[in-house]
Amino acid sequence: MTVEGGDEVWTASDAQRHVRLLGLSGSTRQASTNTALLRALQAVAPDRICLDVYDRIGSLPVFSPDLEGAATPPAVQEFVRSVHGCDGLIVSSPEYIRSIPGGLKNAIDWLVSTHHVIDKPIALVHASHRGDEMLQVLRTVLATMSTNFKPEIFFRLSLLDQTPDGIAQIVGAPPNRLAAETFLETFATFCRERAPCKPA
Ligand SMILES: Cc1cc2nc3c(=O)[nH]c(=O)nc-3n(C[C@H](O)[C@H](O)[C@H](O)COP(=O)(O)O)c2cc1C
Repeated sequence: MTVEGGDEVWTASDAQRHVRLLGLSGSTRQASTNTALLRALQAVAPDRICLDVYDRIGSLPVFSPDLEGAATPPAVQEFVRSVHGCDGLIVSSPEYIRSIPGGLKNAIDWLVSTHHVIDKPIALVHASHRGDEMLQVLRTVLATMSTNFKPEIFFRLSLLDQTPDGIAQIVGAPPNRLAAETFLETFATFCRERAPCKPA
């Protein structure tokens, strides 16, 4: 690692460098199990892994090509900045009518329109033993959206009907905690490998 202009400049040899992840929840529900799973992962994130959670897809207006460019609404600009600034995206979503919830698809439409996610590392987590049809559709969408979607890096727990506090306890207790940490470490390593290699 070298330091340049006050900013750290990382090289490919920095296998342990900090990784900044963003969790994107596909649920707008206050007590969402998917949002709670992302927050529980945030709480157990190992050293050198920072996980922020974006749970505001409900604030994004419906995508329209007429609103691209200079007309992009502020809420969308903030969302796109968050995604652009992270090293990797972790998506967690419920299944609605055997598919992706409209709000999440809308958020993804905005991201794709800005071209910031073409190479973004992406992994999936899921808070239910159900929802496999949605997961299949979401995998197709994410693989279309990014060349670095990694379906094999996947973490799933059966948390249907659990409260956010209960989910924090379930994820924080062994052996789930070890599995959660392993998932985050595996994805962080993938993100480090995929990060643009800056000159030292
Ligand atoms: C409008 C709607 C449609 C749903 N459709 C399905 C479905 O097709 N299959 C299924 O297994 N669950 C379905 N569910 C249940 C949700 O997927 C389930 O409650 C999920 O855990 C909610 O996630 P959340 O806690 O993050 O909000 C549906 C729920 C809603 C509100």
